[in-house]
Amino acid sequence: MIFTDINRAINLLLNKEVVALPTETVYGLAGLGYDEQAVQHIYALKNRPQHNPLILHYACLEDTRTDVVWTPWAQHLAAACWPGPLTLVLSLTPTSRIPLAATGGLNSAAIRVPSHPMIQNILRALPGPLAAPSANLSGQLSPTTAAHVAKDLDVPILDGGPCVYGLESTILDGRTWPINILRPGALSVEDISTLLLGFQEPSVSDYAPGKGDAITTNPAPDIKVLCPGQLLAHYAPKKPLRLNATHIKDGEGLLAFGPPLLGANVCVQLSLEGNTTQAAANLFAALHQLDQSACQTIAVMPIPQTGLGCAINDRLLRACAAFAPATCSV
Ligand code: TXA
Ligand code: MG
Repeated sequence: MIFTDINRAINLLLNKEVVALPTETVYGLAGLGYDEQAVQHIYALKNRPQHNPLILHYACLEDTRTDVVWTPWAQHLAAACWPGPLTLVLSLTPTSRIPLAATGGLNSAAIRVPSHPMIQNILRALPGPLAAPSANLSGQLSPTTAAHVAKDLDVPILDGGPCVYGLESTILDGRTWPINILRPGALSVEDISTLLLGFQEPSVSDYAPGKGDAITTNPAPDIKVLCPGQLLAHYAPKKPLRLNATHIKDGEGLLAFGPPLLGANVCVQLSLEGNTTQAAANLFAALHQLDQSACQTIAVMPIPQTGLGCAINDRLLRACAAFAPATCSV
């Protein structure tokens, strides 16, 4: 059931039901974040392993304070970026109301303030945050339209149009400095650096001891994926992918970036002018489209590691690893 009335979504959520909602990144499968039953329902619908925690979505930064402990740089970055495609992992406060089921039993939570006007208005009408993973079956492609959600899940879906970014939010560990990127996403490393320009680096003693182990000094070329539940094989289309293709083999469809290679019977373009932001917005829709086309396998043209290229390549490597881990390097 696809609809566009946000009041209907609000009533369903208040009744502890689970609803697919648009965000600026991808569609989320949302339920009341403080309600254990709604949270369990999300896991069951997605067939998601219990150890893979959810992101909590809030109306604004102020609303998060009773649940998580802020560090100075994380607060600086969130204030500059929210509402927007940034998720921060922060320690829980002793008074946090987030159920253990939503955090996978960890003493931290992943939180964000989304900017899509529909989810913003819904969050403002609710008494607390919404827990929402991407609205796909576990391990499948993320949905960037209401129709993508409907292919995977039989749930009420609020249609807010195609997602502007088309890639999940960037997840940072907000507890440690220097910054550790847990999942590259719609906020690029360059954007993060710009937003933190002029921020005074805090002294190490501001942070809990023992956190240093997982710190990378320069997250750009050496991104460590540390999210629990973020397995290498993820984000998979139903057809095998071949990355960095410079020619087309028999039976292959083409995922093009820039002027396309010749010879493919199906070609879906990410960005003719080679723009990684445009390519990110088209990525999941393009993979959904190639999945439904006549090709047997998918050849992917090289995509640079600049801007959102880093997050796009992360998703493509995971999609590739789902079929042939040995041929993919990370
Ligand atoms: O853009 C997005 O982030 C979308 C929209 C719907 O907000 N959501 C999304 O959720 O991508 P999901 O569940 O597909 O991915 C959430 C990731 C998981 O990989 C999980 O491991 C990580 O967040 N995560 C959640 N809580 C965490 C925690 N306490 N520590 C580390 N990672 C955490
Ligand atoms: Mg997901």
